[in-house]
Amino acid sequence: MPDYKLMAKQIESLAEIDSGFIPLLSNASAILNEGLERINWVGFYLMDNGSLLLGPFQGKAACVRIEVGMGVCGSAVKEGRVLRVQDVHDFPGHIACDSASQSEIVLPIRSGGKIVGVLDIDSPETGRFSEDDEKGLMMVTAAIESAADFSRLRT
Ligand code: SME
Repeated sequence: MPDYKLMAKQIESLAEIDSGFIPLLSNASAILNEGLERINWVGFYLMDNGSLLLGPFQGKAACVRIEVGMGVCGSAVKEGRVLRVQDVHDFPGHIACDSASQSEIVLPIRSGGKIVGVLDIDSPETGRFSEDDEKGLMMVTAAIESAADFSRLRT
């Protein structure tokens, strides 16, 4: 199991240097990409004028804008909960940015009580993300929520 606690600590330490969401999420995507095996995309979509806009990420070029309620990312925002999809082909409306992706996890990120974006991770392996991964990644998003400054985001 990846050391999610360490990743969360690293993110909190980086926020002490600068808590702006762009540098922090950029480094968070790099830390997750380094720390997780069997993934092909990790990054953030951020709320922008009512829909999700591509944010810092590691992986292949991805779709730029996702409407709330569309795809796994937009559904996670609409439903306000973590979506862990074992097989993306079984998820109606899944948006395939990289045809290699087989499973996916999306975690909402909140600031001031509202959703400001999501953490999205794709894997080329079916059923890659376990309940323990979900718990660990929730520590990572909790660190981001408490450490990042989202005040300049146009939600
Ligand atoms: N698969 C996502 C779209 C984003 S890419 O995976 C990077 C979705 O269905 O929302």
